[in-house]
Amino acid sequence: MSAINISNLSKCFGEVHALNGVSFEVAQGDFFGLLGPNGAGKTTLMRVLCGLLSADTGEVAVFNRKLERWKTPPEIGVVPQDIALYDMLSAKGNLELFGKLRGLSGRELESRISRALELTGLSERASSKVKTFSGGMKRRLNLAVALLHEPKILLLDEPTVGVDPQSRASIFTLLEELHSRGTTILYTTHYMEEAERLCRNIAILDHGKLLGLGSLEQLLKLVRTPRFVRALLRSDSDEALKLDGLEMRKQGLQVDYIPRGESDLMTALGKLAGEPRVQRVEIVSPNLEQLFLELTGRELRDQ
Ligand SMILES: Nc1ncnc2c1ncn2[C@@H]1O[C@H](COP(=O)(O)OP(=O)(O)OP(=O)(O)O)[C@@H](O)[C@H]1O
Ligand SMILES: [Mg+2]
Repeated sequence: MSAINISNLSKCFGEVHALNGVSFEVAQGDFFGLLGPNGAGKTTLMRVLCGLLSADTGEVAVFNRKLERWKTPPEIGVVPQDIALYDMLSAKGNLELFGKLRGLSGRELESRISRALELTGLSERASSKVKTFSGGMKRRLNLAVALLHEPKILLLDEPTVGVDPQSRASIFTLLEELHSRGTTILYTTHYMEEAERLCRNIAILDHGKLLGLGSLEQLLKLVRTPRFVRALLRSDSDEALKLDGLEMRKQGLQVDYIPRGESDLMTALGKLAGEPRVQRVEIVSPNLEQLFLELTGRELRDQ
């Protein structure tokens, strides 16, 4: 069964085509990644999905029910890109407010608040005002708010921006746990390694259009860059070793050697492994970041 069905969705803001004929489906129980450069249309799509914005054309169905404007379907929980919390209220105060807006009350609300605080590691700061929270704690509270009504579908718009590795790891563990209990997750991120690690299916969006869709395995088959050798120099003063016939790309201490074929690859690996100026050498296989850059280009986005 499909949890979300998006069909031919378009939305313009003046001249800008934020969404331009987007269609895809998110199956129930999927962990689905939505990737795209700045201004690709990801947040616009999320806003349409939770009824905050109406599309110009196209349709969205959530569990086969057509979406209505201004009505976030009860099955959906949203973690917005911009943190939506009241600074002057405590963590618990925010959860009480948002819980009541979702129709929760009494003991039920109390126990859900305790659970959400516990899941996001904020129990000890429940009574502190949000204005005293660090950026990472606010992100986690933003997530706790979305979890309160135990939604069947969780929309997360860049939930790990600015959080430290510990918080990030705990957010991943929490999301994996929710996923294993059947929650459908739609996850937006700019961190390709997060998408590789978490998402079972991925859509790549740019200029409002879908450029790639499928499992990681299916998408990696589309990468044109071959396997290459990556060396890490010991110091800036070391000049990178030139290898006959191999294209070399240097960035800081990192030097990539792009071979013409597999035999070049092994020769380069052997030579670099025995090189005293090199502290580490590895073979890099096609990855999501390469596909992302191949599909969306390397130019900067100003939007
Ligand atoms: N309310 C609005 N009014 C005018 N233009 C808008 C509005 N919302 C979005 N846009 C434009 O639509 C395009 C898509 O924006 P959107 O926020 O969906 O991108 P995004 O993929 O979420 O980007 P980011 O990764 O930077 O968050 C951009 O060109 C943006 O400037
Ligand atoms: Mg966005």
